[in-house]
Order: sequence, then C-alpha cells, then structure tokens
Amino acid sequence: MRILGIESSCDETAAAVVEAPDAGAPWRLLSSVVASQVAIHREWGGVVPELAARQHLRDIVGVVDQALSDASVGWSGIDAIAVTQGPGLVGSLLVGVAFAKAVGAARGLPVVPVHHLAGHIESLALHNGELPLPAIVLVVSGGHTSLYHVPEPGTYRLVGRTRDDAAGEAYDKVAKLVGLGYPGGPIVDRRARAGNPHAIAFPVPKLTHDDRNAGPATHLPEGAVAADRRRADFSFSGLKTAVRRHVELATNHGQRALSDGEVDDICASFQRVVIQTLLDRTFRAADWFDARCIGLAGGVAANSALRAEAERRGAAQGLPVFVPSVALATDNAAMIAAAGLRRWSLGERGRPLDFNAEANLAL
Ligand code: KG4
Ligand code: ZN
Repeated sequence: MRILGIESSCDETAAAVVEAPDAGAPWRLLSSVVASQVAIHREWGGVVPELAARQHLRDIVGVVDQALSDASVGWSGIDAIAVTQGPGLVGSLLVGVAFAKAVGAARGLPVVPVHHLAGHIESLALHNGELPLPAIVLVVSGGHTSLYHVPEPGTYRLVGRTRDDAAGEAYDKVAKLVGLGYPGGPIVDRRARAGNPHAIAFPVPKLTHDDRNAGPATHLPEGAVAADRRRADFSFSGLKTAVRRHVELATNHGQRALSDGEVDDICASFQRVVIQTLLDRTFRAADWFDARCIGLAGGVAANSALRAEAERRGAAQGLPVFVPSVALATDNAAMIAAAGLRRWSLGERGRPLDFNAEANLAL
C-alpha cells in the first residue's frame, strides 16, 4: 500500500510518498518534498493568504512530480491520495484539495481527506513506529497549541487548547518585537541558548476564568472540575504583552536599541516560560489519563530547549517522550500521508469527491 500525501494548508506546498508494508511493519517514508514560501512572506512579516494561495498554484504540479520521482514510483505505483482538508487558509487548502480530487478522478484513485493536526500527530508514528497507547500528544505550531489524548490508533480526543495565540505565533511576535527575523521560532531558539533564562521574571500564564468564547468541547477524565479545564488550556497573549512592555521600558519607548545580550536574555526568559507552560499541562494530562508516553509534534516541537526539557522531565518520571525529526515537525506532506494510512488501516477507502476544503475543520 503506497499513498501520496498532499499538504497546502498554510505557506508550504508539500507532497510525499509513504508506504505501509504488510502486517503492522512500520510505515516507510519514500519521499518528502516541501516548497517553502518563507522568502515571499518574510517581506510582509507574516503569511499573506492571497499570495500563499497563488504560489501553491504555481508549485503544486512540480512538487508532486518531484515526490513521485524521488520515490522512484510512477502514478501506477500509487494506491491512494491523502490530502489536507483543513483547518488552514481556505485559499491555500483549496489548491491541494482541488488537485487531489482532479488526480483522483483522472486516475481512478481513492482520495482520503485528512485533518492537518491528525497529520502532525501521526508524524510521531511515522518517525518512531507505533507509540505505546494511551498517549498524550501536544501539537504545538504557528497556528495551533492543542493537547490530545490518543487512547487507541486513529482516535484523537482534545484535552486542552489555546484560548488566544498559538505558541509558535507568540515566538514569531516576540521575535518581531526584539527586531529578529521571520519566522521567529528558530531564531529565538538559537538566541535563547546564549541568554539567561532567569534574567527576566515574565509571568507564567494562569487562567482564572472559564473560557467565555467556548471553543470546541474538550475531554477531561471523569470527575474533572472547571478548574481542571483551566489547567488544561493554554494562553500566550499575556506573555507576549509582558515582553512588549519589558521592551518598551528597556528601550525607553524606542529611544535606544537593545544590546545583543539583552535580546538573548529576553529570548531565553520568554522561552523558559513558554516551555514551562507547555510541559506543565502536558505532563499533568499524562497523569490524568495514565498515559504510557508523551508526544510532541508541530513546528515548535523542533525547538531544542523544549525537546531537552521534555526528555528531562520524562526521564525523571519514567515516561518515554517521542518527537518527530525536525523535517517532520514543521509542515510537510509525509505526515498527511501517514494520517491517510492510519484511516486506511481503520477501513476507510476514500470519500466521494464532493468534499470541500474547510478552514475550520474540527478533529
Ligand atoms: O507546524 P508549522 O510548520 O506550521 C503550522 O502548522 O503552523 O509551525 C510553524 C511554527 C512557526 O511559528 C515557527 O516560528 C515555529 O513553528 N518554529 C519554532 C521552531 N521552528 C519552527 N518555534 C520554536 N523553536 C523552533 N526551533
Ligand atoms: Zn502545521
């Protein structure tokens, strides 16, 4: 069984071929091609949806051709297509979905629409083999910060999610505030290594109220109370504001520039709080659900300090921690192919081609 994955939910056009050998053997990654649009959006300091959609259109055919040729397979060697249906930027999603449906119709191949976050979660099994379940998986990226309970293969139960910014978004905004480039995550990660994580006492986010903009329902263990829900949700906008106020004071409202050392300290102190917030909730959820392991996925899971601290805490508690490779952590199509293989293994054989891209698709 060989599946072609297609991903176009944000600003990378990606295609990949993943193979599922027989009888429960681990999935094999045959190729993974990612055309990044970072150079285009850098000029604007963030992703411009209309530019992203137009660039996907230019790139998709070449990216798919490259994925097939890197895998040394032709179309006849592909058994199904998995495509990101959502969530994401609708103009971007549409390009991947329309392409997948067109090839599906032309070649008579089944098309399996998948959720982008199911892809991030399945990147863990693609990279590490099947995880011991139940697992608690933190999906942490530029668009999402969500905690999932995975009781059995292919079942993802939302335990907590951010009520405002995603963690990656906070990295990108803080990088902008202190004059670093875009995207900010990898640069803050690097600068933080030289800084003192205790130089500035940024506040650790604590939620004191129930969510007034009730989002998707979350699943907590039996007996959980409202306070537990607050202890499972994330919030990063207050931390971002604290960094902004610190920078305003330190620079006398832009009258002077920050020194390199000051920037390093801000990055390290900000990152310490983000990591503590992410891991406190993740390890608490693992405890609630008697998880046998923890997984970290999504672009921010590429962060070196987050990985190191998760491994330290996991080792202290005898809880294995799984992460994807850096290439499989940021957006890619191999994880989408993996999520498609997961659905296939559960009996799905493709959907009628009248499904559409959905910007707010729920998992
Ligand atoms: O998963 P991803 O590629 O796209 C989304 O689905 O959002 O994640 C991109 C995000 C960006 O916000 C980027 O700054 C962040 O992941 N990121 C990092 C690192 N590498 C990427 N954040 C912290 N440390 C990193 N090393
Ligand atoms: Zn993503």
